[in-house]
Amino acid sequence: MADLAAVERTALLTAALRAAETRRPDRLYEDPYAAAFAGEVGPGLLAEVRAVTFPAGAQRTVPSTPDYNAIRTRFFDEYLLAAAARPDIEQIVLAPAGMDSRAFRLRWPRDLPVYEIDRPAVLAVKAEVLAGRSPGVDRRPVAVDLETDTWTDDLLAAGYDPARRSAWLLEGLLYYIPEPAVHRVLAAVRAVTVPGSLVAADVVNAAALTLPNMAPLLGVFAGWGCPWVFGTDEPEALLAAHGIEATAVQPGEAGADFGRWPDPVPPRAETEVRRVFFVHGQRREDLAREDLAREDLARGDLAAAPGQVAHPDGRSC
Ligand SMILES: C[S@@+](CC[C@H](N)C(=O)[O-])C[C@H]1O[C@@H](n2cnc3c(N)ncnc32)[C@H](O)[C@@H]1O
Repeated sequence: MADLAAVERTALLTAALRAAETRRPDRLYEDPYAAAFAGEVGPGLLAEVRAVTFPAGAQRTVPSTPDYNAIRTRFFDEYLLAAAARPDIEQIVLAPAGMDSRAFRLRWPRDLPVYEIDRPAVLAVKAEVLAGRSPGVDRRPVAVDLETDTWTDDLLAAGYDPARRSAWLLEGLLYYIPEPAVHRVLAAVRAVTVPGSLVAADVVNAAALTLPNMAPLLGVFAGWGCPWVFGTDEPEALLAAHGIEATAVQPGEAGADFGRWPDPVPPRAETEVRRVFFVHGQRREDLAREDLAREDLARGDLAAAPGQVAHPDGRSC
């Protein structure tokens, strides 16, 4: 198996989480590919996360990563299946896809292109594991780095049609890339989507990057070489700045609980608590030039807003 960089190995962590969920009798979904994707590395990464999440003999103070991941997977399974059931949505983009097996395990309502974007090394490992298996949709891997300026060229070369409506999922990405890169990715999505397209992402809040009780979990990711570097208290505004009218929901709230979130969800006005949002919405009509100028201004304000934090040396790994 190819060597993976730190942030690429998080795909194996996610696979290990999905394998563990699949073994539960009360699982929120079943991923028969997850254990093979996780391989020998994934369970070790998960053990490190579990050690800080459920410290022996001490009360849990950090969010439950296993429950979070189970809810996130199920929530976005439903988002993607609902999108695919709409006749106007003609293509799906998973950016990044990591070891996501949705193209194989979901019962898609119809055949449509599902673009799986990730870095070349990740997709190479994925191809090894998937050898000989057939997806339930028109799966199209696109090996690119989302932090380059040209990744949409590769997406278009793979057959993505920017003139047709699409549904996007940016799952498990935005906290690993610095704020300018977050905006570049969202601007690129805007550039290749028509109004009515759907966009969803998971985003942590600003305090999740700085609160003392997050230190053990943040320390694990930083220790691996892929610190969390971006968070915002205003995920709706983040997407609005890129032409997407969105709503955000947190695990534990209606529609994003599935009977699994173990912690209270404090009111949004409280900023000194860690949060994670599932933010999703629709690309609105393109605006007139003067509206765009106003939006640019808003984006500048957003970047400077105290509720949004970018890691000082803001590097991804
Ligand atoms: C935590 S995994 C999530 C993957 C997938 N969405 C899932 O839920 O299984 C994070 C993924 O982001 C990918 N990633 C991080 N930075 C990237 C970049 N700049 N370009 C492409 N992929 C990137 C990693 O390679 C890894 O596969």
